[in-house]
Amino acid sequence: MPYLMGLDISTTSAKALIIDHTGGVIAVANSPQPISQPQPLWSEQDPVDWWEGMVKSIRAALAESGLRGEDISAIGLTGQMHGLVLLDKQGEALRPAILWNDQRTGAQCDFMTETIGAQRLLELTGNPALTGFTAPKILWARDNEPDVYAAAAQVLLPKDYIRYKLTGVYATDLAGASGTSLLNVAERAWSQDVLDALDIPAAWMPPVHEGTEVTSRISAAAAAATGLSAGAPVVGGGGDQAAGAIGMGCVKPEVIGVTVGTSGVVFAPLSSYAYEPEGRLHAFCHAAPDTWHFMGVMLSAAGSLQWYKDTFAADMDYDSLLAEAAAVPAGSEGLFFLPYLTGERSPHPDPLARGAFIGITSRHSRGHMTRAVLEGVAFGLKDSFTLIDQVGLPEQYEVRISGGGAKSPVWQQIIADVLGAPLVNVNTTEGGAFGAAILASVAAGAFDDVASACAAMIQTGQSVTVGENAAIYAERYGIYQSLYPTLQQTFARL
Ligand code: XUL
Repeated sequence: MPYLMGLDISTTSAKALIIDHTGGVIAVANSPQPISQPQPLWSEQDPVDWWEGMVKSIRAALAESGLRGEDISAIGLTGQMHGLVLLDKQGEALRPAILWNDQRTGAQCDFMTETIGAQRLLELTGNPALTGFTAPKILWARDNEPDVYAAAAQVLLPKDYIRYKLTGVYATDLAGASGTSLLNVAERAWSQDVLDALDIPAAWMPPVHEGTEVTSRISAAAAAATGLSAGAPVVGGGGDQAAGAIGMGCVKPEVIGVTVGTSGVVFAPLSSYAYEPEGRLHAFCHAAPDTWHFMGVMLSAAGSLQWYKDTFAADMDYDSLLAEAAAVPAGSEGLFFLPYLTGERSPHPDPLARGAFIGITSRHSRGHMTRAVLEGVAFGLKDSFTLIDQVGLPEQYEVRISGGGAKSPVWQQIIADVLGAPLVNVNTTEGGAFGAAILASVAAGAFDDVASACAAMIQTGQSVTVGENAAIYAERYGIYQSLYPTLQQTFARL
């Protein structure tokens, strides 16, 4: 019976998960990851911390499971997307990694759009230049740290740094590569046109692989460090959103995923390539071979609630805070919250967008403010859902929900009512690591393809139906939509 391991280098932790071929979780271990914001708009982590944390987690998961390294048939990788790891010729990191939520590259995004042309960039990569993506970070290093740039020999995404440390091989997966702005997403290959236009050496980019393909094998050194077996196969895996979607069974256009983590994501699988004509949705390769997906990403979803609680209700637990919100009528009696605490991506790609409470009166209590936060995040998800609907949802579809924020029944009901769509829970809470292990199961020969692996390993659970508040939210959504355009110039001046 094959055991599979999923490794997730997220922004907050290095996670190792072991599952069996029925999808049963055998062991899970997390090592928290420090993050540093040395300047406004910056967000960085040290790849050395990632590797140390991952070694600890792999060892802890193996110990908890009672399994030996040789019991693990295949390993799948996932992690935070878009981050830039720059290595020198010896494979040493030249500077801290610049993360997905770093917003320093506004000028480089403008340069990319001017140099390549907005429409051409969209045609070539499926996406506009966005501050969080990898290519503008490479250009930032060229513009601001010429010594680092001159010594650079290799570009990696965060999870691929872990792959390199595990196997000694430079490689990436197509879902992760899609978030670099350097991939021809339609052709599932690096875009020589974009690399040439930006003067980025193609030799810096690792070979790209499908999510289920074996990229390389555990090295003797990594086996000694982690307890894994030398020679064990490591598959392409996927960026956290694509792998998380696999873990929810979102492999066909009829199954849409909503994830309420630090960021909030609406994920729609596609059986053939398409892009949103104005680039307001990400159009990426999926981690399942020869499939693609649309995705809307809001940067602060559960991150908004966490900031709000830490700032205004640090002494309360989440359950009590959310109980106050549940007692407030839908629409929070005219109070709105804009969730752009760290700028925004979908549908307003604007690093300067800011959060706001709008419509406060002396009648409003903490419960109103909490509910407004939950509703504001749900409206933000609706923005992406609406765009996906405009480019074409199938006639029949199911919406599955996951992520830390999705554990709250109050919030789930608000999201179902705001989207106007019932939500279905899935049996796993292990996110991308679970999806990465599913991708590994296909390489291990346990299943013929990703869809059959998902069918065997994922169970759906409780559903949330659309309630009577849906009508109130449908009307409120129009007001919400009008707020960002009204405030956009003010945000920029702030
Ligand atoms: C996806 C995205 C986030 C990060 C961090 O586009 O930016 O999901 O990968 O989790």
